[in-house]
Amino acid sequence: MDKSLFRIKVVPFLGSFIIFVMATVVGDVVLHHFDLVWIGRYLGIPGTFLILLSLFYSLRKRKVIRSGNPRTLLGLHEWLTSLGALMVLVHAGIHFNAILPWLALVAMFINVISGMVGRYLLDRSRRHLSAMKEKYRLHGMTKDAAEMELFWDSVTFELMAKWRAVHFPISFAFAALALGHIVTVFLFWEWK
Ligand code: HEM
Repeated sequence: MDKSLFRIKVVPFLGSFIIFVMATVVGDVVLHHFDLVWIGRYLGIPGTFLILLSLFYSLRKRKVIRSGNPRTLLGLHEWLTSLGALMVLVHAGIHFNAILPWLALVAMFINVISGMVGRYLLDRSRRHLSAMKEKYRLHGMTKDAAEMELFWDSVTFELMAKWRAVHFPISFAFAALALGHIVTVFLFWEWK
């Protein structure tokens, strides 16, 4: 692999993964250092909320909602899930009380990694398809319409479809485990 391919293909993927892990460790260390571990206990709530909010992209894609630029919403999906997952990881910290929350955490972590792989594949298919833009323009489409068409082409590209067969079930496994964790937390909550 030559230098530029390494820069385009490997650096963004590894870079985002390393930043993600480092941010988690730094967040946890800071909370422990300043004796603020109690903040971490509550970070799970906004974290989950951000992840749920990010799924607006899925609603837009599946035409449950009709407004909103899909490209912007996908960008938001990537940022909100990363930030939400970071909060959830700091919330989990290094405390081990029960198996279910850790299973949920592992599922979320795999979900994040698969998301990063998806973003990489999407960039790849976008590069492949950018040549199509010219074709659409030649067919008399406006610039905006051609860009929208290209966006939908890139997310339906073959490799993306295969990847989705992984990212989607992992999301459901994560959702089920997280829900189990949330329900048990409320069952054992001490209302005092
Ligand atoms: C808690 C973590 C995550 C969950 C629960 C999650 C969930 C989902 C779901 C359900 C979809 C399918 C949308 C649909 O086809 O309706 C999706 C698509 C996608 N996600 Fe994630 N995701 C997570 C993290 C991430 C991260 C961290 C990234 C990238 C940095 C990412 C990038 C993508 C991409 C590129 C798509 C594909 C767009 C498409 O197929 O249309 N995801 N995600």
